[in-house]
Amino acid sequence: MVTQVYIRDVPSHVGREVSIKGWLYNKTHKGRLWFLLVRDGTGVIQSVLFKGNVAADVFEAAESLTQESSLQITGTVRRDKRAPGGYELDATGMEVVQIARSYPISPKEHGTSFLMDHRHLWLRSSRQHAILRIRHRLIKAARDFFDGRGFVLVDTPILTPVACEGTTNLFPVKYFDTPAYLSQSGQLYSEASCMAFGKVYCFGPTFRAEKSKTRRHLMEFWMVEPEVAYADLDDIMVLAEEFVSYLVAEALREGGEELSILGRDTGPLEKVTPPFPRLTYAEAFDLLEQEGSETPRGADLGGTDETIVSSRFDRPVMVHRYPAAVKGFYMEPDPENPDLALCMDMLAPEGYGEIIGGSQRIHDYDLLMERVREHDLPVEPFSWYLDLRKYGSVPHSGFGLGIERVLSWICGIPHVRETIPFPRMLHRLFP
Ligand code: 4AD
Ligand code: MG
Repeated sequence: MVTQVYIRDVPSHVGREVSIKGWLYNKTHKGRLWFLLVRDGTGVIQSVLFKGNVAADVFEAAESLTQESSLQITGTVRRDKRAPGGYELDATGMEVVQIARSYPISPKEHGTSFLMDHRHLWLRSSRQHAILRIRHRLIKAARDFFDGRGFVLVDTPILTPVACEGTTNLFPVKYFDTPAYLSQSGQLYSEASCMAFGKVYCFGPTFRAEKSKTRRHLMEFWMVEPEVAYADLDDIMVLAEEFVSYLVAEALREGGEELSILGRDTGPLEKVTPPFPRLTYAEAFDLLEQEGSETPRGADLGGTDETIVSSRFDRPVMVHRYPAAVKGFYMEPDPENPDLALCMDMLAPEGYGEIIGGSQRIHDYDLLMERVREHDLPVEPFSWYLDLRKYGSVPHSGFGLGIERVLSWICGIPHVRETIPFPRMLHRLFP
């Protein structure tokens, strides 16, 4: 019996005959030899078909194989320093499962729009494969971090009657006869769950109809959001810097191979350890003015401003106490200056911009009601949220981290569109 193995496990089978089920990545021919590069999702291995070692029809079948044809190949594992990956398969047999018909993505260069149209196939190429493997690890690391600290995962709804992050970028859906939206953030519901469980997080897809076309915005992205009862702004800044440091450390520990496929210089990532620098909004603006930014004081920071501020530091920087007027309705005012909100944005280094937004939340019923009204939000759908301020209300805080933003920074890739398997962008709902 020949053992069926994944390419990742080949090194523990040297000298034995194994069988691999996969797809043809590439092939070359030299006289009485075919070199087939086969991938199976766990790795790539070179299989050598020698005319004298395999049946004549098998050798001929190799001739007909096209890129991405599916096949099962059997052979003896041999260690070979020259082979890609360090191991080779001396083929003894092969079965073709399907011959692929003119696979559209060839090793030559293609434009991004062509590749995005073929995203369902593009996922197979080594670079996309590497990015999505790191994504998988990053998501696991995010869960491990909070699970290891006693946080409870409490899921939040995707269909919702309330707007958490402003009303300009909502995706409306019809909930039978009631208007509803796709969730922009699980935060409001996590505020309810943290009053039940103390420390909670939610982790799910979030939706924003962002009319702007930038390299940092998706219409659908994944956000992990912790919420902690009795925590203030300082507490969650500490949590945020420890969380991001953990994510980066795990990516370096587990994703070395993938980061090197991506050509990522890991030097800057190795510096990401707490404490992170903290700047008030006012201090950030002093810095922007020195650099000649034209953004008026009092406005939210734009992408370019974030790059200017973050480029001064070798690790992520937390800008806190923005003017309340440019931030969420739910943010607790700074007791020292009520025009400022007890909030923070974490900006990633190397020009990657905002990766975290968070704040302390208003816990006083009357103040929250005032803010709901000032922001022209309908009171009825928020009544449950206001209720939380009636029954043992306490200060509480939390933040949201966008997985795709963090992943593009860790991978060192310029655009978030490659960090999610099937990106939803301003003009793209396909595939
Ligand atoms: O700053 P934001 O809007 O904060 C909130 O949604 C809060 N309710 C979170 C909370 O306190 N629980 O978004 C948080 C993060 C951003 O820092 C960014 O990383 C990411 O979500 N993000 C996006 N990522 C990709 N595409 C978009 N359109 C994004 N909008 C926000
Ligand atoms: Mg934000």
